[in-house]
Amino acid sequence: MEWDPETYERDAVAALERASTSEEVESVSVSFLGRRSYLKQALREVRDRETGMRLNAMREAIEGAVAEKLAKVQADELARKLAEERLDVTLPAELLGPVRLRRRGSLHPSTQVRRDVEDIFLGLGYEIVDGREVETTRYNFDALGFPDWHPSRSPRATLYLGDDTVLRTETSPAQIHKMESTRPPIYIISIGRVYRRDTIDATHFPVFHQFEGLAIDKGITMADLKGTLLYVMRQLYGPEREVRFRTHYFPFTEPSMEPDVSCFVCGGAGCPVCKHSGWIEMGGSGMVDPYLYEFVGWGPEEYTGFAFGMGIERTAQLRYGIPGIRPFWDNDLRFLRQF
Ligand code: DAH
Repeated sequence: MEWDPETYERDAVAALERASTSEEVESVSVSFLGRRSYLKQALREVRDRETGMRLNAMREAIEGAVAEKLAKVQADELARKLAEERLDVTLPAELLGPVRLRRRGSLHPSTQVRRDVEDIFLGLGYEIVDGREVETTRYNFDALGFPDWHPSRSPRATLYLGDDTVLRTETSPAQIHKMESTRPPIYIISIGRVYRRDTIDATHFPVFHQFEGLAIDKGITMADLKGTLLYVMRQLYGPEREVRFRTHYFPFTEPSMEPDVSCFVCGGAGCPVCKHSGWIEMGGSGMVDPYLYEFVGWGPEEYTGFAFGMGIERTAQLRYGIPGIRPFWDNDLRFLRQF
């Protein structure tokens, strides 16, 4: 650029007009007014008063234009920034794009029942023990008194992982593990998954949960079993419930009983939930067969005890009125959000 005092001011104003950010205004200011600008150099070399006054007036004019332009772009920049960074704290967070409100989750109905069952038995002084989902046929069948010909031993009924290894078909093997590791008094429950080679339909699924109870002590009778189940059923289904026993057969209890609870929907009068019988089947139970005591090396007459086993999904179905077992495994949020 040639130093031309005639056009210098106009050039500065034109450059300022093109500037649209405060940095650009700043650099125009530096090149037209800075220490190494033509104007500053000319001022240093001024010899006569008239030229000095003219150049100073030019400097003041350009400084004024810079200040004016700077104020304007800064105001624009601030307005833009305010618009871009606007935060309306009254807006629902979902509308703010990437910020999403997390729905509060809920426990799966099986988990809710499981925890309730645990609380009830902990309140009775029971201990919660873990079982094994992979069992040997020795614990799943032999120790529990299943005869060789028992249909549950068939690979059509049970999922075998090897000749002597199965996915447990019930939580009952936990009884034997506990009996082998300690001596009475024993008051335990064991909760977890069990597996059966069932075809999926409304009431069957190859995986489900059971809770298993075992109480062994001196002088335990069937009255204790009934009293315990009555208490538990009243905790689960309401204080009005009654319990009755129907005789049954299980290889590891003698006598064996299936407990029924009086229908909590109709109170016993008869309705679709209890199939008009007034009673609902709850699972299996009985007095521990002396065979089990002998199996773990105790005398058959030393102790008595009771055991029971029930389905977690079935309990949840009854409690919440869930018509089938499949929704428990579908992972459908429309189902799960209802609990
Ligand atoms: N294991 C049985 C089943 O899965 C349920 C059962 C019956 C458990 C009687 C017990 C019992 O502990 O005493 O059908």
